[in-house]
Amino acid sequence: MRSVQRFNKKTRVKSQKERVESGALFVSLKPAGYPLRSSLHEYPEVFENNVFEFYAREQWNGLVVQSGEYLFDRRMFPDFAFKVVNVVPEGSVIGQSTVFLIEDVTSDDIVPEPSNTVHFDDVIGQDSAKHKCKLIMKFLDDPERFGKWAPRNVLFYGPSGTGKTMLAKALANTSDVPILPIKATQLIGEFVGDGARQLHQLFDRAEDLQPCIIFIDELDAIALDRRFQELRGDVVEIVNSLLTEMDGIESREGVCTIAATNRIESLDPAVRSRFEEEIDFVLPDPKERLAILQSNIASFPVELDADVNVTSLVSKTEGFSGRDLVEKILKSALHAAILEDSLVGNRHLEEALKRTTASSLFKNSDEGMFT
Ligand SMILES: Nc1ncnc2c1ncn2[C@@H]1O[C@H](COP(=O)(O)OP(=O)(O)OP(=O)(O)O)[C@@H](O)[C@H]1O
Ligand SMILES: [Mg+2]
Repeated sequence: MRSVQRFNKKTRVKSQKERVESGALFVSLKPAGYPLRSSLHEYPEVFENNVFEFYAREQWNGLVVQSGEYLFDRRMFPDFAFKVVNVVPEGSVIGQSTVFLIEDVTSDDIVPEPSNTVHFDDVIGQDSAKHKCKLIMKFLDDPERFGKWAPRNVLFYGPSGTGKTMLAKALANTSDVPILPIKATQLIGEFVGDGARQLHQLFDRAEDLQPCIIFIDELDAIALDRRFQELRGDVVEIVNSLLTEMDGIESREGVCTIAATNRIESLDPAVRSRFEEEIDFVLPDPKERLAILQSNIASFPVELDADVNVTSLVSKTEGFSGRDLVEKILKSALHAAILEDSLVGNRHLEEALKRTTASSLFKNSDEGMFT
């Protein structure tokens, strides 16, 4: 069956009778995926360009194509879309001598993190991590000076909500270099081979942009100990690809990789050993809890009632992470006050505290790891 281009009413489809023998000299296509996504779909790959060319001429013969439009496969992978990147001449007809080129999804498609407003000083405590980040900034400023002594791979680890992602964002914001962020969870769950390819593109992109930082968040999602990896075959492949990329440093002298995890003890030892330094993020002590509470209260859109005693809150929040304090206590108290159209009072904070359990008290279990 003939393929019909959609999303462009202007497209003319010539009748089967007038088969076109010439027209477009050259069409380059980029796999664009399905209009709808489901885990049941296979992501097709063009394996033999010559064979694909015959197939493409046959099924799209007679279509007028413009760059920017989509062509849909109709046979083997119905509705899989290819984006037309280039047509020579523009607006010509696909015929029996049109040459097709399939472009890879390139590393240019990876976009650095947009700027944010988090600053180093906003991260309370975590002094050793901040020292390391300052060193990384000096390195990024002048990578040649460091040579083989460059900071390469650094691991942030520690309980959830202690500022690992926040510090990486502050580093991106404060240094003048791009940071390429990826969540390891993004690498799994789609199609076998996707994760390894994404990683390769990420490191390729970093090579183009150096000096720069790669930030791999939630590393444990892929780099778990082998016995867990075996539960998911594709994860083994991703881990191997990560190891290969981390080892291939020759052409990436200006790249520093930071990864973050809160399950350091279950990381694959091979991955773990690639990090030159493991930086421990710890739960805030009373002084730090006070500073986190105060600095966040300062940005409340509602005023505090005179009865609020932040210091007494500090003694009641032993074991709470920065996230617990901000997201569970302060936010919940603020929302309750806004609903009542009142100032934020002690009762709002006490109520929030009653409803909250410090994350550090949650049972630490490996159940649900892959959910
Ligand atoms: N050290 C800190 N200083 C100030 N605020 C903090 C600190 N730690 C956590 N917070 C607050 O908690 C929020 C969550 O922190 P963040 O996302 O950086 O935690 P994380 O360590 O990356 O956690 P996870 O391991 O779950 O990814 C921050 O946006 C901030 O509001
Ligand atoms: Mg995080």
